[in-house]
Amino acid sequence: MDIGIDKIGFYTPNVYVDMEKLAEVRGVDPAKYTIGIGQEKMSIAPLHHDSVSLAANAALSILDDEDREKIDFVLFGSESGVDHSKSGAVWVHNLAGIQQNARCVELKQACYGATAGIKMAMGHIALNPDSKVLVLGADIAKYGLNTGGEPTQGAGAVAMVLSQNPRILSLDNDSASMTKDISDFWRPLYSDYAFVDGKFSNEAYLGFLKEVFDNYKEKTGRNLSDFEAMCFHLPYTKMGKKAILALTEDLDESETKRLMDSYHDSIYYNKQVGNVYTGSLYLSLLSLLEQAPEFKAGSRIGLFSYGSGAVGEFFSGIVKPDYKKYLNKDAHESVLDDRRELSIEEYEATLEKALPKDGSDIAIDDEQVNLGKAYLSGIKENVRLYSVK
Ligand code: HMG
Repeated sequence: MDIGIDKIGFYTPNVYVDMEKLAEVRGVDPAKYTIGIGQEKMSIAPLHHDSVSLAANAALSILDDEDREKIDFVLFGSESGVDHSKSGAVWVHNLAGIQQNARCVELKQACYGATAGIKMAMGHIALNPDSKVLVLGADIAKYGLNTGGEPTQGAGAVAMVLSQNPRILSLDNDSASMTKDISDFWRPLYSDYAFVDGKFSNEAYLGFLKEVFDNYKEKTGRNLSDFEAMCFHLPYTKMGKKAILALTEDLDESETKRLMDSYHDSIYYNKQVGNVYTGSLYLSLLSLLEQAPEFKAGSRIGLFSYGSGAVGEFFSGIVKPDYKKYLNKDAHESVLDDRRELSIEEYEATLEKALPKDGSDIAIDDEQVNLGKAYLSGIKENVRLYSVK
């Protein structure tokens, strides 16, 4: 059965920080952030956006009434969950107006959660060929002010509808995955900020990539020349370049150049948003599909998902004929272009603002224009209140 991505969209908050200005204030050469890390802008989530509202906006940007009727499974990948018990999927299900007879769950394994959602969606559709599944990856990446991870923060969500006979990307059922219990990046329940061993996390990411790709090659008999392009989990966009160099280290330069040509298209959105954890790989895929010249139908794209802690998976998909017709390049460019730049003082104040942790009520008074369609309007008697415009 042909199963894959039928629709894909993303949302990011409407405010950002310019990385060169952040570098100046931190006393760092701006080229370290823009070239060494590879980030130009970093989206910041104001208090009225959490993983639920970000995911709801991404979903609302792609769903039509037929999807709302046919979606019977909502899979919410996130490591920025807002409740220990209730899944973000239940709120998004309501905010997006999906029919009642659906299942909803949240999936957590660092940045890998949305990939787990895709794998579960494929199995579900194989058993229920008329189903559509909504897979979400929504996160706010926060390391804190003046930390090593600060230039690799970000916020946003990707929403995908998976179905039989998809119009954008057929997914091969051929992945290779790996799990190892390591402490490269984690966020204890008591902390708003992630803890990270930066250098070790980079090494772990590349080690996983090489091992799972070797395993994938063994399982499928494919090699790098079978891929028109590769997309990677992008905690920062330079990581994608490191990934290509790691995969091509024993090959001639033409192979590196071939993959590097599409790399620039695959990082175009990510370098303006920052790390969106679970959504990062899929934001990169969207960027590639929308920004690169049209691939021939049947071209194979490789996808590497990495979630610290750690789980890695390499899998692949094949672009469908006329897939560009089903993308929304103009709308996505507007989401990025219509954002407002925050001064560094505004950014610092926004990053440190937090919802009450003592059970008190809050009405989120909103001076920000253009909140997106869905937003968190407050908390009353410990219940989060979301609104849709
Ligand atoms: P750092 O110590 O600030 O930076 O940490 P650095 O000194 O390693 O420099 C970074 C790069 O900039 C280097 O290039 C420098 O040479 C270059 P590289 O050797 O890496 O190719 N550089 C310059 N380039 C041009 N002009 C200059 C200049 N100066 C330096 N003047 C680090 C960087 C990414 C480690 C840090 O920001 C961090 O800890 N970030 C968070 C962790 C992270 O993103 N890890 C990635 C792998 S783990 C992962 O992807 C999972 C994750 O998404 C979480 C999840 O799964 O949920 C994080």
